[in-house]
Amino acid sequence: MKNAIETQNLTKVYNNNFTAVNSLDLEIPEKTIFGMLGPNGAGKTTTIKMLTCLIQPTSGHATVGGYDVTKNPDEVRNLLGMVPQQVSLYKDLTVMENSQLCADYYGIPADERDSRIEDLMELVDIKYARDKRVGQLSGGQKQKASLVASLVHGPEILFLDEPTIGLDPTTKRTLWDLIRELNDDGRTIILCSHDMHEVDMLCDNVGIINTGNLVAYDTPQGLKDTLLEENKRELTETLSQIHAENDEERLAELENISLRKMSFLLQEFDESVVSSIEKNEKVKDIEIARNGRVNLKIDAFDDSVVHEVLNDVMSSGGKIKSIFTEEPSLEDVFIKATAEVDEDARA
Ligand SMILES: Nc1ncnc2c1ncn2[C@@H]1O[C@H](COP(=O)(O)OP(=O)(O)OP(=O)(O)O)[C@@H](O)[C@H]1O
Ligand SMILES: [Mg+2]
Repeated sequence: MKNAIETQNLTKVYNNNFTAVNSLDLEIPEKTIFGMLGPNGAGKTTTIKMLTCLIQPTSGHATVGGYDVTKNPDEVRNLLGMVPQQVSLYKDLTVMENSQLCADYYGIPADERDSRIEDLMELVDIKYARDKRVGQLSGGQKQKASLVASLVHGPEILFLDEPTIGLDPTTKRTLWDLIRELNDDGRTIILCSHDMHEVDMLCDNVGIINTGNLVAYDTPQGLKDTLLEENKRELTETLSQIHAENDEERLAELENISLRKMSFLLQEFDESVVSSIEKNEKVKDIEIARNGRVNLKIDAFDDSVVHEVLNDVMSSGGKIKSIFTEEPSLEDVFIKATAEVDEDARA
């Protein structure tokens, strides 16, 4: 697969000598949705600004759609659409006029222009405000107007810098659907977001940036699996250390940590189901909540326990209404990957 974006040693040092992006190497395969995560000030917007030719890299290389951002900025601009973190439309022009300006910049034929804009307005539900000046719009409405303007020339590569911030839940979903549709049409999407659910759900790959560097890159599931493996490894090491030291008290404490939570609710509470899972040695600490939910703990190192518990429940005639197991979330991955901060690099 070809890469839509490639960077090598991409670096941005701002005029005040601050290094916002530090020798970044990144590859984003074409036709995928890439999620860019990172704490405030990590360098996400700076990276996007370099890739969209809004600012010049200090050193290093970057290509977008095969074109070099420094040598061929016009070709790069033609390929991409950008919804910036700070909406950059003209406040005194209307939603329609702003989009027309964009369309004219990209040379969209006059007979196609307005109908294209109207279709996009309908898609993101902003047509009702087409003749309002952007300065008079609400935050979410501005965001939608910005989206229309950025999509009007049908860009191959779309950069979205926190596009759903401040959008109401319905509009958020509309935008998620739109992102998926654009991707189904073969477009590459680069999405910066602090919404872990959004990134987990939409993105093929996720990169976590911390103080201007890429600290993790994988599929959302891959990142979570790695974290689980790391946690297991750390725990095993600590456990064997404590075993060697023969510290009874800490051992009891730690063995409890090596368990993870699971719980289920039956359509009808049934004591015989509970006694059937009690027999499983890998199940610990069974506790029945007042609403009948059965909470228990299982061995975090044994992937077959969940399956065994389900089998026990079903073979004793239990009908499960809902079930929950504790898994690492993308948020856990984010927190772990960005926990080590070099305070000097941040200031
Ligand atoms: N024009 C500028 N001049 C000097 N420093 C800047 C400039 N723009 C950004 N920075 C600094 O560069 C660093 C990275 O900023 P950037 O906007 O790329 O972060 P971000 O990852 O997008 O953060 P957020 O999640 O808050 O949007 C920050 O420490 C910021 O203070
Ligand atoms: Mg930003």
